[in-house]
Amino acid sequence: MLETGDMEFENRVVTPVRTGSDTDDIEFSLRPSTLNEYIGQEKVKENLRIFIEAAKKRGEPLDHVLLYGPPGLGKTTLSAIIAHEMGVNIRITSGPAIEKPGDLAALLTNLSDGDVLFIDEIHRLSRAIEEVLYPALEDFALDIIIGKGPSARSLRIDLPKFTLVGATTRSGQLTAPLRDRFGVMLRLELYTHEQLCDIIMRSSVILGIGCDKAGAMEMAGRSRGTPRIANRLLKRVRDFAEVMGDGRINKDIAKIALDRLEIDGLGLDSMDKRMLNMIIKGYNGGPVGLETLAAAIGEEAVTLEDVCEPYLMQLGFLSRTPRGRCVTGLAYKHLGYNIENDGGEPLQQIAFD
Ligand code: ADE
Repeated sequence: MLETGDMEFENRVVTPVRTGSDTDDIEFSLRPSTLNEYIGQEKVKENLRIFIEAAKKRGEPLDHVLLYGPPGLGKTTLSAIIAHEMGVNIRITSGPAIEKPGDLAALLTNLSDGDVLFIDEIHRLSRAIEEVLYPALEDFALDIIIGKGPSARSLRIDLPKFTLVGATTRSGQLTAPLRDRFGVMLRLELYTHEQLCDIIMRSSVILGIGCDKAGAMEMAGRSRGTPRIANRLLKRVRDFAEVMGDGRINKDIAKIALDRLEIDGLGLDSMDKRMLNMIIKGYNGGPVGLETLAAAIGEEAVTLEDVCEPYLMQLGFLSRTPRGRCVTGLAYKHLGYNIENDGGEPLQQIAFD
């Protein structure tokens, strides 16, 4: 989980980060447990199916897997599916939760052969922990130092043959030795509107919410390509449907609810807009460096990079250049600026006082 400590970020309805405001039980119940139930990420699923079947045929554990991509796309869900499809147990932890080498040793020694160890935010593991992890990944062994000084001895403990599934939003921050130890690297992509619509329809059936396709599509279009946001919007729109209507979600009630939540037609909220407007008004459309921009709008650079940018770039609203971030004509147009060049190219044609 990103730790921003920023109230506005935490309260953002469209934040893809787990906020704890949805009960874990409900979030859990919406999770598919097999690859067949999992909607979208077709390439990832096809490859995983092959790797899982091959490993099962050989009677071996699956090779270590790295899942990377923006938050909220289903990395934890996929890791549970991998364990389920392999017929093994899963242990779930995260990089920041493993504080001491002993924490990792305790996790590893409690696994059984074939089990999946899922480490979320694996880029946040400390170097000392990574050092313990290398022999565990490569040789299924733990090297423990007993004693101190000249009398110190090294002891090697055999571990069960497990599969590490690591997840990260920032694969670039993994150290090269850690990255090299993953046999399978899978990149999750933002979802299409149709896929999100299918996810919303599936969730509404599980939650017993009446929702028609047009209503689901309205929510899908404002979910920033992210199932976690789609499911959150579904629950908030249900509240409006129950209080203002007959409890069923259709296009009209979805529109009313989402407008009241100040999520615009493309799913942009005030943080995205502040970011784009700052580049436009403060930096003449860019380029502007990420840190400068983050400071200017009072957000963390990682929040902008992980949460806002993937979707703004997918929309073609933002481009990253070696000199910094630039807003495109499409974004100017969406935000209501009256300009001639409203395409996807970086634009620096409007000067503001
Ligand atoms: N719920 C959240 N993500 C999902 C997905 N990819 N497929 C089905 N249900 C989901």
